[in-house]
Amino acid sequence: MALIDLPLLMKDHVRGKRSPVTCALKCGNACTKTTCNTTGNDYFRDIASGVLSRRALLGGAAAGAVAIGVTGTGGIGGPAPAAAAPGGSPLEFDAIDPVRFEVDSFDVPEGFAWHPVISWGDKLWSDAPDFDWNAQTGQSQAQQFGYNNDYTEIQEIEGTDGTRALMFVNHEYTNENIMFPADTDPQTLAEVTLAAHGLTVVELERKTRRHPYTPVVGSDYNRRFLADTRYEFTGPARGDDLLKTVQFSTGTRTQGTFGNCSGGLTPWGTLLSGEENFNSYFRTSGTSAEDKRYGLGENELARGWQEIDPRYDATAEGLENSVNHFGWIVEVDPWDPTSTPRKHTSLGRFKHEGANVIIAEDGRAVAYSGDDEKFDYLYKFVSHESYIEGDREHNKTLLESGDLYVAKFTGNSPSGQIDGTGELPADGAFDGTGEWLPLVVDGESAVEGMSVQEVLVHTRLAADSVGPTKMDRCEDVEPSLASRRVYVACTNNSDRGTDGKAAADETNPRAENRDGHIVEIDEQGDQASTTFAWNLLLVCGDPETDEGTYFGGYPQDKVSPISCPDNLAFDSAGNLWISTDGAPDGIGYNDGLFRVTLEGEERGRVEQFASMPAKAETCGPIVRDQDRTAFVAVQHPGEDGSFDEPTSMFPEFDEGTGPKPTIVQILPVAEERPFTDIGPGDEHYDAVLWAYDEGIATGWDDGTFRPLAPVNRDAMAAFLHRLAGSPKVTPPRTEPFTDVAKGQEHYDAIIWAYQQGITTGWSDRTFRPTAPIARDAMAAFVHRFAGSPSVDQPTEAPFADVPASSRYALEIAWLRSAGIANGWADGTYRPLEPMHRDATAAFLHRMSEEQQITFMMGG
Ligand code: FEO
Ligand code: CA
Ligand code: CA
Repeated sequence: MALIDLPLLMKDHVRGKRSPVTCALKCGNACTKTTCNTTGNDYFRDIASGVLSRRALLGGAAAGAVAIGVTGTGGIGGPAPAAAAPGGSPLEFDAIDPVRFEVDSFDVPEGFAWHPVISWGDKLWSDAPDFDWNAQTGQSQAQQFGYNNDYTEIQEIEGTDGTRALMFVNHEYTNENIMFPADTDPQTLAEVTLAAHGLTVVELERKTRRHPYTPVVGSDYNRRFLADTRYEFTGPARGDDLLKTVQFSTGTRTQGTFGNCSGGLTPWGTLLSGEENFNSYFRTSGTSAEDKRYGLGENELARGWQEIDPRYDATAEGLENSVNHFGWIVEVDPWDPTSTPRKHTSLGRFKHEGANVIIAEDGRAVAYSGDDEKFDYLYKFVSHESYIEGDREHNKTLLESGDLYVAKFTGNSPSGQIDGTGELPADGAFDGTGEWLPLVVDGESAVEGMSVQEVLVHTRLAADSVGPTKMDRCEDVEPSLASRRVYVACTNNSDRGTDGKAAADETNPRAENRDGHIVEIDEQGDQASTTFAWNLLLVCGDPETDEGTYFGGYPQDKVSPISCPDNLAFDSAGNLWISTDGAPDGIGYNDGLFRVTLEGEERGRVEQFASMPAKAETCGPIVRDQDRTAFVAVQHPGEDGSFDEPTSMFPEFDEGTGPKPTIVQILPVAEERPFTDIGPGDEHYDAVLWAYDEGIATGWDDGTFRPLAPVNRDAMAAFLHRLAGSPKVTPPRTEPFTDVAKGQEHYDAIIWAYQQGITTGWSDRTFRPTAPIARDAMAAFVHRFAGSPSVDQPTEAPFADVPASSRYALEIAWLRSAGIANGWADGTYRPLEPMHRDATAAFLHRMSEEQQITFMMGG
């Protein structure tokens, strides 16, 4: 087998947004092929009555929008500077200028810096081989971070003050053309690319919320999900003949996951991952209606995987149903490294971009999922069982059984007013109502002539027959937990309105839609409702060069240009964040991350926060605005280059080694002076700075350190725990203190301090976590932290106010002799006064840095 034949894959076919390489490797050149959805299914009805207008849908917000022309920031053109972040979000920034597509750089707003968190090939275990551009093997790749990171989620580990977290990442596909030297043998290429797909769970750590995360190599949580990882099917199609192959004869399980694009975090802390362009990994006869509808056929098997496992050539007898093992929503529990991931047949089989869950008013779990292909559909799943707060094992079964629907949108403006240019109809909005058409309800098929199992395995065909709306490629579909509205990123559709294809309609209003749009859905009644109102929040593009754009009514000359919305996220203030994939070929700028104000007078204001390196798409945005930080997954940087002539050097721009897909964290640049109320020249400033840099003391959200504030007992435990390197804490069988409960601040540190004998608490079994720690008790804590070094009981008073016989005189004497405490100029120690924060930093600094006293207990 020849090394991947790029000229063959590149064919002259690029229409719309994607570069030839993405087309070939990511989607199997989907756009060169016959449209998968050739049904005559009608998508537009001109119904002008009985619908909610956009004004009604948005309540007061729409009225505010009218006034924007008057109150908007005037005159300067381009994105207006951010006076304050919308909705009171603490993440304030001035939008960056868009960056031309020729430029290979990573750009963030002034005052922010970007940090690679983990890159392709970074090892997850200490005994894994170091990444080597010239000598990757399947075995090394299996122990390293995979390629092309798409969906990314980070969950903090409870009780670690945000210093530890679990990250989950999808590895959607591989770019062989830039991953391997030209003389790589086909067997190696097949083994490495196979192991570079799948999923990763990796633990992260950071000193404080103001520091970037780094991976914890060798963490017990670390896990790669590979082609031979076992997955269980759940739901009605489990065990059905359609899932049986000679390799998996029971139809209840399979191995591997491919083409994992986006995903979602469930309210019960598991991750969902969408199997998207799975068709490009298989060869089939391509003759059946099912094959055609899923884009399956005589595909090039460019990666050579059929040499490793015959199932990828599914033309072989007994392997035909191998393709039915993919195209599902996968659920992974990252908190249990031994758990078996599941593929939920209840959510149907199509090119799932991802899935996102919200709990309905009556407790049922509602999941939204888009089928990312031109003219394909939007789906909704409603669980049979209800969510039970705190019952994780039960909640993990919610996606195994439920009802499945597909969306039909109806516009409220006459079809004659939708001319395909993006010009708004006379009522001033692309809007209308919609209906969730049933496919499976109460365990019964709602589709004539198809069993439940057939509906779920061949969901596209089932949906065709009920008449849903053909969409412009639904990517992420995310419900806002703040407003409960649902946002759909329709990334683009270059075939809309072209010969023989569906014309523009009010929901997909532009012919040859290059730049995409965002649909906003408001379920009527509860979240599980079968009817909804909708409007277009954004009709994307560069308003400077394109008249057919719309930004929720916000002035078009005051937004960042945006094209090809792909992944969505929300910040704590309810603002929408959009990452893009395809802007270079749409509006000539690199892809990026954008914030969109949803509420109030500035609804529709788009501000660019980050710009990607050359030929990279922006994925997996995570916005933690309360920590003033955000994360993006930078996928396929420099994808149009070759191994010898890379077109991007991201992320190691200075190394000259070539591009690596990478998770990036963006956060404010470390200030020279981190706190507003203590600086150079102030007493103990050096020690405070040291404690800050070491992640021992973090300061307050308002930027202060409060040097003279007392240290509470819980904070003292936290300081010492961090100084000891934040060791993992074994949960106690019974709680040692009546006033310290799991989940409360510094819980882990308090338990650790108790287990190490640093504190015993009070005789009434309280710890009194929020009581200030006195200077004498502090001496005892520190002495025990140091391993209770033996000192003679003092015969003389160590300080004027600490008699030799007093409580803690021994510890205080040690503190003095060890050079940690000098007391006050008047010769006193003031044992019963509270410990101040700056003095604590000074104690810890002298102990750790000057006396090299480290944590000596517990091994
Ligand atoms: Fe993998 Fe729908 O983008
Ligand atoms: Ca309308
Ligand atoms: Ca995507």
